[in-house]
Amino acid sequence: MNASLKKVTRADTEKMDGADPIAHLRDRFTLPEGDIYLDGNSLGALPLGVMERLERAVLKEWGQGLIRSWNDADWYPAPQRAAAAIARLIGAGADEVIVCDSTSVNLFKVLIGALRMRKDRKIIVSEIGNFPTDVYINAEAAKIMGCELRCVMPEEVEQAIEDAGENLAAVQLTHVHYKTGRVYDMAGITKRVQELGGLAIWDLAHSAGALPVDLNACNADFAIGCGYKYLNGGPGAPAFVFVAKRHIEAMNQPLPGWHGHAEPFAFTQTYKPHPGIDRMLTGTASQLATLALETALKVFEDVDMNVLRQKNMALGDLFIALAEQELGGMGFNLASPKDPKARGSQVSLTHENGYAIMQAVIARGVVGDFRAPDILRFGFAAPYVRYVDIWDAVAHIRDVMETTEWKRPEFNERRAVT
Ligand SMILES: Cc1ncc(COP(=O)(O)O)c(C=O)c1O
Repeated sequence: MNASLKKVTRADTEKMDGADPIAHLRDRFTLPEGDIYLDGNSLGALPLGVMERLERAVLKEWGQGLIRSWNDADWYPAPQRAAAAIARLIGAGADEVIVCDSTSVNLFKVLIGALRMRKDRKIIVSEIGNFPTDVYINAEAAKIMGCELRCVMPEEVEQAIEDAGENLAAVQLTHVHYKTGRVYDMAGITKRVQELGGLAIWDLAHSAGALPVDLNACNADFAIGCGYKYLNGGPGAPAFVFVAKRHIEAMNQPLPGWHGHAEPFAFTQTYKPHPGIDRMLTGTASQLATLALETALKVFEDVDMNVLRQKNMALGDLFIALAEQELGGMGFNLASPKDPKARGSQVSLTHENGYAIMQAVIARGVVGDFRAPDILRFGFAAPYVRYVDIWDAVAHIRDVMETTEWKRPEFNERRAVT
């Protein structure tokens, strides 16, 4: 740490919590006693009310209401209701977003749909190091549509867009990088892509519920994102898909199922897409999961995303300052941008023994995650992470290093999910 700066103490962080305008949001969650949960970017915490909603849905609506509940308990429009709540967080109209399927499946749907809108163009630009599902789906969509996928380093994306020129069909990028937290300039990139006649597809997995995204202000064409990370929808929660209103009519998605039909209950043999965003639906919604997500989204009902963003930037800055102060000379390096505006709601450190260190830290109740080959990732879900949690987390990391606790054999055994 810079010697001219005052050392940050635990008392300082307690004061920061005292002045936090959204500290009360923590009371909207069930959190395990004693844990410091820094993994809301992988699986958000459990919001109050979700358990009760699921209990009612299972025991009363399913158990007693049975099939009648699709109408009587208003199950059928749950994807649209959840989508309206997400739309508010991502700067979209409620009629441009729908909740369904997984992020991966939704990416396939919008990407093929986008490529079909640019049939004469043959280049897709994406990033080396994009989330694997994005890379696999980009590659497969390119194969299916006879396109070329150009994956380049993040700093080469803008040049790759220029190089594709009139042959640019689509650019597919993840707004906040899952490993480093680096944020792309959504407005600037989208503008240039469109000037060249291409379409921009944004993966908001690490943005929705963490940053004040404004898809329409950026004139984004398409977007997709997860329900289980910062939106707290629960493990495997349904994802969402955004199609800008101007594109809906031309959107010809490749998984046309009966729920995307204009009249699903007419049971006709010919597919006629729904005139609106519902055409992105394929089959029956995972109903319990959709109701859980819908209930979880109530956390955000009265939240100003700008205030939330200020807090997660401050939490990240604090983590970086404390890492410099407490973990110097221990082999850690910062893998995230230092500038909070260039960083999402996470900070990642690299360390050659990252896996074992993270397991040792998790065993102490400080829950982050590990991303191969060497990244220790800490997410700061501002609704429930406190400043004092950051101080305590860094103190535990220092202790794990000083005691060489991480060397214990049980922390060096690889488990299926990291
Ligand atoms: C950036 C990004 N895109 C896509 C996905 C995949 O989402 P899903 O498992 O819902 O398909 C993830 C999952 O972590 C992700 O981080």
